[in-house]
Amino acid sequence: MFIRRGKLAAFPTETVYGLGADAWNAAAVKRIYEVKGRPLDNPMIVHVANRSNVLDVADSVPPIAEALMSEFFPGPLTLVLNKAEALPPVVTAGLSTVGIRVPSHPVAQDFLRACGTPVVAPSANRSGAPSPTSWESVSEDLYGLVECILQGGRSPVGLESTVVDCTATMPVILREGAVSLGMLREVVPSIEPASASAGREHRSPGRRHRHYAPRATVRLYEPATAKAHPSSAYIGITAPQGSADFGYVLICRDADHYAHEIFHFLRECDRKGLRRAYCERPPEAGVGAALLDRIMRAGDKASGSD
Ligand code: TXA
Ligand code: MG
Repeated sequence: MFIRRGKLAAFPTETVYGLGADAWNAAAVKRIYEVKGRPLDNPMIVHVANRSNVLDVADSVPPIAEALMSEFFPGPLTLVLNKAEALPPVVTAGLSTVGIRVPSHPVAQDFLRACGTPVVAPSANRSGAPSPTSWESVSEDLYGLVECILQGGRSPVGLESTVVDCTATMPVILREGAVSLGMLREVVPSIEPASASAGREHRSPGRRHRHYAPRATVRLYEPATAKAHPSSAYIGITAPQGSADFGYVLICRDADHYAHEIFHFLRECDRKGLRRAYCERPPEAGVGAALLDRIMRAGDKASGSD
């Protein structure tokens, strides 16, 4: 088994593809930072096959985290808990907390069970690039740099997991994802939105870095200023003005489909050599908040990389 021998293996999850290493093997985990070009201050998420494995890497599970796990594990939610003392510091970039997730994707589940050890896995892209939602995208970034890329089709969700910090008095969303604020509040009404963690970047170090950006310039679509052009692309739920004049147009059924397609679309713009990617403002409900967050970050060349 690659992982138990200290090698790196990329694998599909329901959110995006991850680049895995044995969480107990500090040298293997360190190699992930090198391969991705990831800043050393950005902690990584530990993946386990089952809820019952959470205490292998966490020191304790507060009642709020228990409640969230009952509702959303396995699935696209990461909980930040106090870390188990023995977990190597390189996993958490020296923090006393650890992000933990139980993915639901059947290939991820089989993979984690076969590994028989907690697996550290950031998204399997070069740092700063859009997260990979297919094995082909992983290969584009990491071919020759990792020992194994498991093929599992397109990631159904298409955006990274929602991250919730459960170590503070008030649990707070550090990164939005498919598990929305509304869904979380049905279980834990006191949970604070991502805006409450803005300006407290030390709680989510990854948010400081540049993210999700293709070579193409990413902009929210405004009919008044966006010009249809063969070197421009468009993604949205409704058709843009002058649709036929764009170099590439992707119309999605709804917000979930839009989220599923966004990173694939951004990479496709680069494959086609397009210069501008216009993204329609997504609806606010459900996954829309997370989708808007990724679009804005992809467009913000100055901000910082998961
Ligand atoms: O859906 C996902 O979460 C994917 C798949 C592969 O599971 N993984 C992923 O990992 O997106 P990554 O490394 O690209 O993003 C992890 C995010 C970063 O923003 C990081 O700062 C945050 O989670 N994070 C990890 N551990 C943390 C901790 N102890 N405290 C605060 N934030 C943490
Ligand atoms: Mg990432």
